Amino acid sequence: MGKQAVDILSIDVPRLIKLLNSALAEEWLAYYQYWIGARLMEGPMRSEIEPELLLHATQELNHAVLVVDRIIQLRGIPVLHPQDWFKHSHCKYDAPEDPYVEVILEQNLQGERCAIHRYKEIADYTSGKDHTTHQMATTILNEELEHENDIEDWLTDIKRMKQELKKIRM
Ligand SMILES: [Fe+2]
Ligand SMILES: [Fe+2]
Repeated sequence: MGKQAVDILSIDVPRLIKLLNSALAEEWLAYYQYWIGARLMEGPMRSEIEPELLLHATQELNHAVLVVDRIIQLRGIPVLHPQDWFKHSHCKYDAPEDPYVEVILEQNLQGERCAIHRYKEIADYTSGKDHTTHQMATTILNEELEHENDIEDWLTDIKRMKQELKKIRM
């Protein structure tokens, strides 16, 4: 994107870049949280859920690519040091210290809800002002909504399975 093209955007570009850098840091933390959690996970439906969590991880990394490309187009500087991820991220990184599947899924669910909030904020901020960023944020937002839905479905299935097992034992 040319300098003039950035200058004529009727938006506070430094503020937008700050939001995008938060999103970038959050994507990397989400990627790692999925990636490490999937490998440690134990409990019911593990073999079905593990590959799905790894797919979510890959999708988070793809989001990071979209976001970093946009920061560069806007002539901003993306977060350069991993130690700065925590400074920019407003989403929590939950270390999977308890590998039980429901705990891991709950941690990832909180991450997704935080990401949904972030991309809604970016989409709202750029609406009618920066079409390209708005479109990107909306595309990512839809995937985060799908991720949230996937996790809620697995948690429901596990709960249901536990209830059925209880009935058999009674
Ligand atoms: Fe993401
Ligand atoms: Fe996600």
